[in-house]
Amino acid sequence: MNDNNIYPIFDRMLTRADKERLLGQRGVMLWFTGLSGSGKSTLAIALERALQERGKLCRILDGDNIRTGINNNLGFSDEDRTENIRRIAEVAKLFVDTGVITLAAFISPTERMRQMARTIIGDADFKEIYVSTPVEECERRDVKGLYAKARAGLVKNFTGISAPFEAPAHPALTLDTSRLSVAESVSRLLHLLGLE
Ligand code: ADX
Repeated sequence: MNDNNIYPIFDRMLTRADKERLLGQRGVMLWFTGLSGSGKSTLAIALERALQERGKLCRILDGDNIRTGINNNLGFSDEDRTENIRRIAEVAKLFVDTGVITLAAFISPTERMRQMARTIIGDADFKEIYVSTPVEECERRDVKGLYAKARAGLVKNFTGISAPFEAPAHPALTLDTSRLSVAESVSRLLHLLGLE
């Protein structure tokens, strides 16, 4: 008897190993973390193309897309960011369990949030990529004009200006896009995946 009337059907579904055999690849999570404008999405997009060229199936989940869809009811308080990351991690896990190379590009500013994502997805599949571009460079780029707005007090709780960012203690890879070309970063990511 199930006390909440929910009956998972996972035991009758095909397994992750079945999907991985079909695709000829292993599912994995690359979790990009870094400031707004650090280059997370740019690297994820470039890596996706490199993977496609190698016949590998990849899925990008990124901040601005997810926040206009499944997470359109969430803001930037610590509580909302935590819920943002929790939902993303649950969705990402479905992709990883389907054998997909899954790339998440979210600020995910605290160790606690990233640890939660790691726990949901599973330590063995979770690779943290720290896009360590300094805040001065992100602000100089100011691709979306948000740093200027944050400085003017028009955006509250802006990461790196008026809200914290905790650098990861032990990332699998650190990429500073103010020093590395996109091609060099992609090459390091492919190496991490054992594909170069
Ligand atoms: S997270 O902190 O919850 O991981 P997420 O990656 O989803 O953030 O969204 C970050 C994007 O939202 C930024 O790149 C920026 O475009 C936008 N944004 C809007 N308000 C803020 C804010 N207060 N702090 C950071 N990013 C913001």
